[in-house]
Amino acid sequence: MQIIDTQDGSHSILSDEFGVSYHSKYGAIQESMHVFIEAGLRYRMADSGSLAVLGIGFGTGLNALLTCLEAENQSIKIDYTAIEAYPLSSEIIHELNYKTELQLSPQDNFFHKIHDAEWENRVVIHPYFSIEKNNMRFEEIDVENAFDVIFFDAFAPNSQPELWEAPMFQKMYNALHPNGVLTTYCAKGVVKRTLKSVGFQIEAIPGPPGKREMTRARKSTK
Ligand SMILES: C[S@@+](CC[C@H](N)C(=O)[O-])C[C@H]1O[C@@H](n2cnc3c(N)ncnc32)[C@H](O)[C@@H]1O
Repeated sequence: MQIIDTQDGSHSILSDEFGVSYHSKYGAIQESMHVFIEAGLRYRMADSGSLAVLGIGFGTGLNALLTCLEAENQSIKIDYTAIEAYPLSSEIIHELNYKTELQLSPQDNFFHKIHDAEWENRVVIHPYFSIEKNNMRFEEIDVENAFDVIFFDAFAPNSQPELWEAPMFQKMYNALHPNGVLTTYCAKGVVKRTLKSVGFQIEAIPGPPGKREMTRARKSTK
């Protein structure tokens, strides 16, 4: 694993196993804010006082950290569940520059609290945010009607095709509450068609810098 710089100044990781980076080269923080916080969390927050979020791919913890900050800023209670098969080492985590790039004050210890949280247990990070990190494979997810928002942040379909096929999307559809939303940076036609085939309503919306479109998928209200 190697830390790399992205164009907004924030770090990302180059995966040894998959040979690809964890985030867009145009900006890790910029991408996570756009795809997951703005298009997913804020979109779903508009009509809810508390939210259950499933983060598929915990990795650097960036999506969880941004959600934790958003929960505090908006005073909305968020219970976050993260799934990760290959947790990063603490040496790598400690080198990541997200605290500096997000201009968090030294007292804002959320990044380290999230990473220090024991796996497989729900841990309260602040009054509006709790996290349960699960060291498991996405393929093992088997929950129904449990989440309002899913951040689907696996590696791209050409690296991990099996995670972008109907059986996985069916699990995600089942895991959402009616009206729940899934967002992903991917806008491939075949991915949108597969999401639709399991019942999602699909929107192609503008992507983060460097990407024309991304996808938001919604479970119907019935
Ligand atoms: C594109 S990276 C995004 C990571 C994270 N969201 C972040 O901001 O750092 C994909 C993540 O999915 C994890 N992953 C890949 N295959 C997986 C699987 N089958 N089950 C669970 N996690 C997996 C990788 O280890 C990596 O952390």
